[in-house]
Amino acid sequence: MSEQTHAPVAVTGVTGALGSRIAARLARRGVPQLLIGRRPERMPELPGAERRGPAAYADAPAMRTALAGASTLVLVSGHPTGRRLEEHASAVDAALAIGVTRVLYVSLLGAAPDATYRNARDHWLTEQFLAGSGVRHTVFRAGFYAATPAALADEELVVRGPGGDGRAAFVTHDDLAAVIETVALDDGPDSPYDGDVLEVTGPQALTLHEVTARIATATGRPYRYQPETLEEAFARRWRQGTSGEQIESWISWYRAIANGELSAVTDTVPRLTGSPATDASAAGWWPAPNTAW
Ligand SMILES: NC(=O)c1ccc[n+]([C@@H]2O[C@H](COP(=O)([O-])OP(=O)(O)OC[C@H]3O[C@@H](n4cnc5c(N)ncnc54)[C@H](OP(=O)(O)O)[C@@H]3O)[C@@H](O)[C@H]2O)c1
Repeated sequence: MSEQTHAPVAVTGVTGALGSRIAARLARRGVPQLLIGRRPERMPELPGAERRGPAAYADAPAMRTALAGASTLVLVSGHPTGRRLEEHASAVDAALAIGVTRVLYVSLLGAAPDATYRNARDHWLTEQFLAGSGVRHTVFRAGFYAATPAALADEELVVRGPGGDGRAAFVTHDDLAAVIETVALDDGPDSPYDGDVLEVTGPQALTLHEVTARIATATGRPYRYQPETLEEAFARRWRQGTSGEQIESWISWYRAIANGELSAVTDTVPRLTGSPATDASAAGWWPAPNTAW
């Protein structure tokens, strides 16, 4: 299909790290887009893209208005709120109500009802909702972001947590965006990706020691990993005034790594983009310390 004939693609999360990269890629390919979100004033200005909103996922009337005219919805998962299934279901229902025929959903590697990582469980719920909705859809199960350890580091640039010597196949935001771009561009009536669950990972599984060493090399700053016991992790977070829900989310991120639940390396990035998956050291973007969750 030529670049001029793409149907409008609605992209959410465009004020964030992933959605902004997806939207920029689609704009470069000449795809007409509707950028959907809660803060249109913070959305990027891109050729062929219309900024729509404010529209939160749970606000069905606002989502229907914002989505009007879209054919495909790229649904970047929202922040964990304890009601993510309901919020995502609201966004998908709004899309179906205005005639969207395909949904591309950003989930998480290891999404399962019994996943160790708390936030992977509600991704699985959204996947189930999509499967039951009847809409054409593709699920992207993203590995843990290569950028996240930098956000988890404290002011001393130490990543502390109960991750043991487990490994995870950290993926860059840009590789994930490139995979989603490929699928979004294949927008004929019979996309080979319909119904697929694509596991998107980096090129190798790294321990937290190894990934923080890569961040240190890339930034020239002394990031490092300090393993903690579960008891130490709980006590430190509790002293910081973190809520029980946040403590569980945070500890379970490390435990999922310790258990090897995100360690599988897949060929999705090279297979769909034609380029090797990017090493974590080349992520090119590192969030400030203490900015996760
Ligand atoms: N694979 C991983 O390691 C990993 C790690 C962290 C998060 N995630 C998931 O991946 C998603 C994208 O990652 P990211 O790095 O791009 O996160 P990010 O930079 O925090 O961006 C999240 C985007 O989603 C929007 N959003 C969140 N909740 C929403 C809601 N209820 N309704 C409408 N828009 C909403 C935000 O809009 P506002 O500007 O209005 O807030 C923002 O544009 C995250 O939201 C999270 O679900 C994955």
